[in-house]
Formats: sequence, C-alpha cells, structure tokens
Amino acid sequence: MATLWHGRFEGGPSEALQALNDSLPFDRRMFREDVAGSRAHVRMLARVGLLSDADAEAVLAALDATEAELADGTFAFAEADEDVHTAVERRVTELAGDAGARLHTGRSRNDQVATDLRLWTKRELAELADLVTRFQATLAAVADRAGDAYLPGYTHLQQAQPVLLAHHLLAHGWALARDVDRLLDARTRTDVSPLGAGALAGSSLPLDPDATAADLGFAARFENSLDAVSDRDFVAEALFALALLGVHLSRIGEELILWSTDEFGFVGLDDAFSTGSSMLPQKKNPDIAELARGKAGRLVGHLTGLLTTLKGLPLAYDKDLQEDKEPLFDACDTVRLTLLALDGMVSTLVLHVDRMAEAADSPYAAATDLAEYLVAGGTPFRDAHAIVGALVRAALAGEGSLADLVASDERLGPDAAALLAPGVPVTRRTTPGGAGPEPVAVQKARFADRLDAQRSRIGA
Ligand code: ARG
Repeated sequence: MATLWHGRFEGGPSEALQALNDSLPFDRRMFREDVAGSRAHVRMLARVGLLSDADAEAVLAALDATEAELADGTFAFAEADEDVHTAVERRVTELAGDAGARLHTGRSRNDQVATDLRLWTKRELAELADLVTRFQATLAAVADRAGDAYLPGYTHLQQAQPVLLAHHLLAHGWALARDVDRLLDARTRTDVSPLGAGALAGSSLPLDPDATAADLGFAARFENSLDAVSDRDFVAEALFALALLGVHLSRIGEELILWSTDEFGFVGLDDAFSTGSSMLPQKKNPDIAELARGKAGRLVGHLTGLLTTLKGLPLAYDKDLQEDKEPLFDACDTVRLTLLALDGMVSTLVLHVDRMAEAADSPYAAATDLAEYLVAGGTPFRDAHAIVGALVRAALAGEGSLADLVASDERLGPDAAALLAPGVPVTRRTTPGGAGPEPVAVQKARFADRLDAQRSRIGA
C-alpha cells in the first residue's frame, strides 16, 4: 500500500494504526472545501510560475472530475486514502499524471486541513444563523397569532405576574438573537486563510498566501504560520456558540413540556410534532421538546471535549487536532435537526389561551398592582407592600375575597378592587420592555427590525 510518506519507510502501516489514524470516514464531508482549496492553490502556483499553464489546466480538470465523482458517489476510495486530502490528491494524480504530482507543491496537509475546516465552518455558521433566524421568525409569528393573550409569568416556577404570551415568546426570541450574534462573530474570526503556512514554517518557494486567501473568499490570510496550522480556537468558539444556543433551545423545550402537561394545559401539540406511547393509548408525548432539552448535554460535552483536547498542545500541528472535526460536525448536525424540529413544533402549537388566562387571573397575581396603586397615592412602597400583604393573608385565612377586602379598605377602595378584574393587571405593565400590550407592540416592531438586520448580516 502506497502511503504519502512511502519514500522514507520500508514497511507499510499496521491495521491498528490505520484504523486509529484514518479520518476519511468523517472528514470526507469536507471534499468540496478540499477541492476548492486545491483549485486556489493550483491557480496561485501557476501565477507565481511554479506550475505551467498546461499543468495547471490538467490539474484543475482532474479536480473537477474528482469533485464530480465524490459528489455523485462514484469515487472509488483506496485503502491508503487515510483522509480526504490524501484521497483527492491520489485521484488527481491518477487523472493528471505528472501534473497531478505537482499539486502538493509548497503545501502540507497541516495548512490544507485548517483551510478546509475554516471554509466548512464559515458556511455552516452562516447556515445555522439563518436557521435560528427562521425559528425566531416563527416565534414572532406565534407571538402575533397570540394577540393580547396572557398567561402567568413565573419566578421560582411560582405564579408571579401576568404577562402577554407574545412577551414570553419574544423573550426566547431575543436570547436567540444573541446566539445569532455569537455564531456570526465566530464566523468573522474563522474567516482567515491558513493556506501557505505549509507544515509549520512557510516555504522557500515564492508562494502567495494573500492570493489564495482572496481566491477562496477569506477576509484575510494568517499572520503567523505556526498559529495558522495549530490553532483551533475557531472550532472552540463555534462549539461554545452552539452549546449556548443548545442551552437556550433546552429552556424552550422544557417550557413546552410543562405547558403541554394536563396540569398546565396551555398548549396542544400537533400530531406531526409529537409521539405516542407503545403501551399507553391515551399518550401524546413532547419528544421533540425533550430532545431539545437533552441534546444540550451533548453540545456542552463537545465543547468541553475539544477544549480538553487543545489544552497543553505544543506548537505547531499535533495529530490530536484531528479530534476537532467529529465534535464540530456533530454539534452542527444536532443543532440543525433540533432547530428544524422545534420550529415545526412551535409553529403548529395549539394555544389554549382561555386556560392560560384562567391560570393568570388569580386575584393574587394583581397584588403588586394594588401596592403600586397605593404608591401612586403617595404611600411609601415598603408600607404599601405590608398593607397589601396583610390583606392577602386575611383573604387566604378566609376572612373574605381579596376583592371585597380591598373594596372595603379605606386606603384602597373600589377603584383599587377594579384592578383585580380578570385581564386588567397585564394591561398595566406599560414601561419600556415591559409585559403589557403597549410596550409589547413596540417590542414586536423592534424585533422585526432585528430580524432584518440579522438577515442582512448573514447575507453579507
Ligand atoms: N487528517 C488530518 C487531520 O484531520 C490531516 C492533517 C494531517 N497532518 C499530518 N501531519 N499528519 O488533522
């Protein structure tokens, strides 16, 4: 078997080495990036005079043919193809002969793999940012559909104050907006070409890394060849952005699980986005939401795994770095599937707004409004808090309904008691960014603007 290094070796690789060493099973999904990197490299070699125009043409044609075979599944992998770079170069050499043997001039798999992975990550981060934006648009659409529906807002998972359902949904939307920022920020730092760094130190040949960077659409080339081939901080950043996004999705998942219980009954799940039980005929289960919650663990694991791999690695390339791809690929696949499923689940939710209102209409949920009524009349807030607290205690002790106790209290009276009427408290959350209809209308417009800004940033 002919390895890339057969010149220096007498014997071939052991089976065990090959099985451990080969990254082809997972890195072949970067074949388009690998071919693109090779095209740019070949064009640069021709421009600087290291490759004749005829040879460059032959290699470019072989690259086209190789890419086509890989794309349509007719590519025949050889035993010695340990990774995608080896496979592509081997095939190009078969097709282009001597010219193909010049493809690797001034290049190492070390700068090649970093280039491929940066190209792959750049595209993937933008696609995921786009998917998040679509999910945010779904949240906004459900928020519109929710109109003035309101539900209990919770702290400590205890009912606190009523909030508009739209407000609650958009709370998740804004968290996702920051996730999009993080994905795109990570993309910015990924957007640097390592090609031309060679194995670690650059080259004695007149390579032009600026030209290959521009050809590949990178914003810049590396500044330091050792750094270029050895750092995977762009992978770690992507994994962090994905892990935190996963954590946000897990919180949405958890609420959908709670809201779809018989006990809450706030939402119904569409058949297409829920599952049944093999034994219990009555069951309808929120598996998507549970997986959104569960997948976060795996995403956090990928981040901690890679950071642990990177810790303490000496410069420059070490084979440990081959461990960068599987967590990244899996994290991207996991987030993509979760976003698509959750999007479908949320967009088809049946909103039981009567049930939400019923849960939110407890007169006790308006206790803060009573205290604020007293404050508006000049009572210090601490005193108002104590007055209302005492009335709540009396009502709970069975001395009368809170509304009656408030109406007959000389400090409060019938006007204050009217604040306890169903649906009133939420309308009184009027401050900027607050949970009532007035600020939420403003928030919806700002959220729509925010989505537009994201779309143009992703497109750029
Ligand atoms: N398959 C390798 C990786 O993923 C490519 C780089 C190999 N470089 C080397 N010097 N062995 O990292």
